[in-house]
Amino acid sequence: MPPLTRDDILAYLRETDPGRIDQLRREADRVRRQAVGDEVHLRGLVEISNHCVRGCTYCGIRHDHDSVRRYRMRADEILACARRAHQLGYGTVVMQAGEDYGIGRDWMAELIRAIKDQTGRAVTLSLGERPEEDLVAWKRAGADRYLLRFETSDRHLYKRIHPDRGSIISDRLTILETLRNIGYETGTGVMIGIPGQSWETLAEDISLFAKLDIDMVGVGPYIAHPDTPLARHAHEMMLDDDRQVPADQQTTLKVVALTRLVCPEANIPATTALSTLSDRGRESGLAFGANVIMPNLTPMDYRRLYEIYPAKSCLAEDPQAFHDELLRRLSAIGRRPGTGPGHRKGRA
Ligand code: 5AD
Repeated sequence: MPPLTRDDILAYLRETDPGRIDQLRREADRVRRQAVGDEVHLRGLVEISNHCVRGCTYCGIRHDHDSVRRYRMRADEILACARRAHQLGYGTVVMQAGEDYGIGRDWMAELIRAIKDQTGRAVTLSLGERPEEDLVAWKRAGADRYLLRFETSDRHLYKRIHPDRGSIISDRLTILETLRNIGYETGTGVMIGIPGQSWETLAEDISLFAKLDIDMVGVGPYIAHPDTPLARHAHEMMLDDDRQVPADQQTTLKVVALTRLVCPEANIPATTALSTLSDRGRESGLAFGANVIMPNLTPMDYRRLYEIYPAKSCLAEDPQAFHDELLRRLSAIGRRPGTGPGHRKGRA
């Protein structure tokens, strides 16, 4: 298949014919198998803090959501989760949090060193728009990867959903470049079906993944959290029916497939948000080009408080039970858990 143009991407996004959508799935599956194989890399996710200085209008843990009980895990608690990831055979520990400056540069660097020393896992960070000195210190401490979704390539929409912090302009594309220069494997992504997101914008988002030659791409449906400004004002932001992207499973799966076609070697998760829409969401993601799953290892009492959107599918997932079920489900679809750290092919 010749490389996809932005118009091809747009046509696939708008496609409704089941036969053509299945053709897209088959092509994404073929490219996935050829470029990254049948292994599904498992990354143990630890949501280490729900404090956040940001006011993202879509997010349940934004700073001015007063009814959220805030937590920050202790280093020993996080280390226990990392050891759990090791025991379960996961190659990577992902530490995610709100943008929390209570997570200090040195404290985090020491924690990264301890995790690397004690478990030898790859370490992925997802800690928001931190200053370059923090990102450099954490890379030196041994962190391997960093995730920062640009959320949407539409500057105007971005400003509406992700306010700047005082006088500091939020420029995630520049931070992604910085991360790459520092030497991180770099991941990004978008939400699908944000009120005000057009098909053209989404096609642009996918083209941008390719242009950035990004190492990891996570996409999931936007899920309205009723206690957020975006949920309250959605009706004012929604476009006409034929222009507004729906936040549904089919659209998300098309985006996963198109992302695989434009970034053949990227690591692409079947995300929690996707599995929140349907029980078979993860398998569908894997069938449409995904090759990563991020099982949640956050202790339950904290996990309930990390409510970026409601009814996250992981709320009922005990790590061991989830793991056993996951292995069954993977073998049922002819895939196998990855071995090793699961770095981006061709880079490590
Ligand atoms: N629905 C879906 N995804 C969300 N995220 C945050 N809030 C929501 C929501 N309401 C996603 C953002 C963020 C990632 C960690 O979670 O894309 O980058």
